[in-house]
Amino acid sequence: MNTAPLQGIKVIDFTSVQSGPSCTQLLAWLGADVIKIERPGTGDATRDELQFDPDCPSYYFLQLNSDKKSLTLDAATPDGKAILTKLLETADVFIENLHPGAMDKLGFSWDVVHKINPRCVYATIKGFPVSSKYADLKAYEPVAQATAAAASTTGFYQGPEAMPTQSGAALGDSNTGMHCAIAILAALLQRQHTGEGTFVYQSMHNACLNLCRIKTRDQLTLDRIGYLTQFPQYPDGKFGDFVPRGGNIEGSGVLGWTYKCKNWETDPNDYVYIILQRGAKDFELACKAMGFEDWLTNPDFNTADARDRHKQEIYDRIGKWAIDKDKYEITDILGKAGVPVGPVLSTKEIMNDESLYDGNTLVRINQGGKIGEFVTVGVPFTMSNYQPTYGPCPTLGGNTEEILADYGFTPDQIKAFAANGTTAPLSKPAK
Ligand SMILES: CC(C)(COP(=O)(O)OP(=O)(O)OC[C@H]1O[C@@H](n2cnc3c(N)ncnc32)[C@H](O)[C@@H]1OP(=O)(O)O)[C@@H](O)C(=O)NCCC(=O)NCCS
Repeated sequence: MNTAPLQGIKVIDFTSVQSGPSCTQLLAWLGADVIKIERPGTGDATRDELQFDPDCPSYYFLQLNSDKKSLTLDAATPDGKAILTKLLETADVFIENLHPGAMDKLGFSWDVVHKINPRCVYATIKGFPVSSKYADLKAYEPVAQATAAAASTTGFYQGPEAMPTQSGAALGDSNTGMHCAIAILAALLQRQHTGEGTFVYQSMHNACLNLCRIKTRDQLTLDRIGYLTQFPQYPDGKFGDFVPRGGNIEGSGVLGWTYKCKNWETDPNDYVYIILQRGAKDFELACKAMGFEDWLTNPDFNTADARDRHKQEIYDRIGKWAIDKDKYEITDILGKAGVPVGPVLSTKEIMNDESLYDGNTLVRINQGGKIGEFVTVGVPFTMSNYQPTYGPCPTLGGNTEEILADYGFTPDQIKAFAANGTTAPLSKPAK
């Protein structure tokens, strides 16, 4: 029995770069038929961005376009418009992430597509919400992080490197794709009741801000009392009227920090994150595991509030305890004692961890050709009755003829579309 949740769902994917493609890749892995529309001759900008070999698609493209079909189409030409209209007539989802106004200019606004096919869900990804003063800006990842409180609250609060900092996680890009996927799935469920598709507008700003929700909690607290107990600035430092950068704080009420471990001088990832929970019992477990039993009776440390006031002494003492130990050894000692802990892991360490090749976490895709096999991150959750399969990424326009034939175009029409520049670049006139 085919248990793919999105079997039979047709997605017309007019997206490129990362935000949209991450969304449609997830939909494809959940069983949807995804047709990726790409400009003849060039295609998705990531095909040759950060390319390591001119004959191979980049790893950037490969990470985001598995299990899709590629149709090259110039949607600005009359034939291109007719083909896109035909595809939309039976589509369940249309998704695009062109710069603001571009899709309307091409003639495929929500109103137009809704008329072509009232059942089609129309998803659009932009940098900012429609109401924002920045709504007309083009946006990439750092723009989202900079404008959604991620950058202003990430990084260090003092020292030469104290500046707004970008997260390595794609909070503006793939995170937006995941948010958009949730919205599309909700719209598909809604359609079962209404019989109609809806217009989904997903901004990178909203997706990023949604992950900064806890920072809005901090702003509310700061507005009321003027300080934040979980930050290193408490109790002796000064707070402004905005949420500051907290370095490596855990961010909620528990006390966490990143500590240097053995060999930190030579390996930039020989660090460990250790958390002291607020509860007396949990604190006792941590003290016993590290040999700090004296803290259990010391009023400067034996309550969570006292620990917030003496956090620098705590950081210093745990730091001395950790510095001559291996990060895995610390993880073992504290993990066994029931203390929340984790080694800082590099991409290399993660991708070399065979236990993560469990069929979902990390997956190997056979792209064939010069690329061969590559590793990517699979569907980030599991379902007890569905196991995704992971196929290769399409070559540019690799499915054009097959798709056009499926949609009823004749061999002569298909040839003509290629010759007139609709599905293939026009050949340059001889000099
Ligand atoms: C990513 C972004 C900054 C790139 O902007 P860009 O370099 O102008 O590129 P776009 O892909 O948006 O569009 C370029 C042009 O190609 C056209 N185009 C793209 N695919 C086409 C196709 N298949 N057929 C015809 N025209 C096409 C667009 O209509 C646009 O034309 P215009 O400039 O005359 O209006 C912009 O698309 C954007 O802000 N998108 C929304 C947010 C987003 O998703 N960002 C990416 C995060 S990973």
